[in-house]
Amino acid sequence: MDGKYLQFNGLLVPKETHSTESLKYAVEFQVHDDDVFGLTYPKSGTIWMQEILPLILNGGDLTPVQTIPNWDRVPWLEETRAALVLGDRSPPRAMVSHLPYNLMPSSFFTSKAKVIYVTRNPKDIAVSSFHFHKMASFLDDPGTFDQFLDKFLSGQVLFGKWTDHVKSWRDTDSDDRILYVTYEEMVQDLRGALGRMSRFLGRELSPEVLEKVANHCQFNNMKTNVMSNFSLVPKDLMDSSKSAFLRKGTTGDWRNHFSAEQEARFSAVIKKEMEGASFKFPWDD
Ligand code: A3P
Repeated sequence: MDGKYLQFNGLLVPKETHSTESLKYAVEFQVHDDDVFGLTYPKSGTIWMQEILPLILNGGDLTPVQTIPNWDRVPWLEETRAALVLGDRSPPRAMVSHLPYNLMPSSFFTSKAKVIYVTRNPKDIAVSSFHFHKMASFLDDPGTFDQFLDKFLSGQVLFGKWTDHVKSWRDTDSDDRILYVTYEEMVQDLRGALGRMSRFLGRELSPEVLEKVANHCQFNNMKTNVMSNFSLVPKDLMDSSKSAFLRKGTTGDWRNHFSAEQEARFSAVIKKEMEGASFKFPWDD
């Protein structure tokens, strides 16, 4: 195991942002019925949810997204900042998390807390993750793209295999409080996706507010928001001259990276591991 990572129930997490204490905090966290989670496998649109959730929960008020860095505005439940930030907050608390369903805090299962689960074409996730590994010094060197794909497919990456994560969240007995959204539909019709999210959270927004929120959450606007683009993080930790965190924000960028052989290998593994799944994604053949 690389010296940059901790193991959490067999999953790799970076030591820079996680600790034994922070993981214990997540496991023991007391989830409230009114709490809201943006749940993702890494590189599926987590910081997008850190922008969207406070806007919906505060009726479109831009103050939190303009004044609080994303990691404190909507903290990762399992990261070291969580205890500091969530300690003083009263429900409804908005959080993001990369935890698979089975590793959520036990209080989550008896609560009525709502989850928006965002997933993304795993080929684009692999590409996004490859570039992220190049710019974040707290992650290991990705090697060549080909080597990175092998790591990705075998689950030797942050939070393990994509297929395990997705299956854990799709095959649950909590479906009534999980809204499933794809990154692709958010790119295609952000306003529509925001409308569904706000209705699901019981915070329906007027057409005008919806328009304002959708505009604020556009890729180019988030890219220039210093509270969201990680430019406040020292360059020795995240070096945007190597690759920006808000890098491309598109769908299908995998076509610019995968060879035909890599595509066939990748698709074969994912297809086999998703065999028998009760759901289909727009990118499935
Ligand atoms: P790319 O590297 O493909 O550009 P996460 O926050 O889970 O780490 O995901 C990061 C990915 O989400 C990056 O993908 C990033 O650009 C993309 N993203 C973040 N905000 C976005 C937005 N408003 N519109 C489109 N993509 C966005």
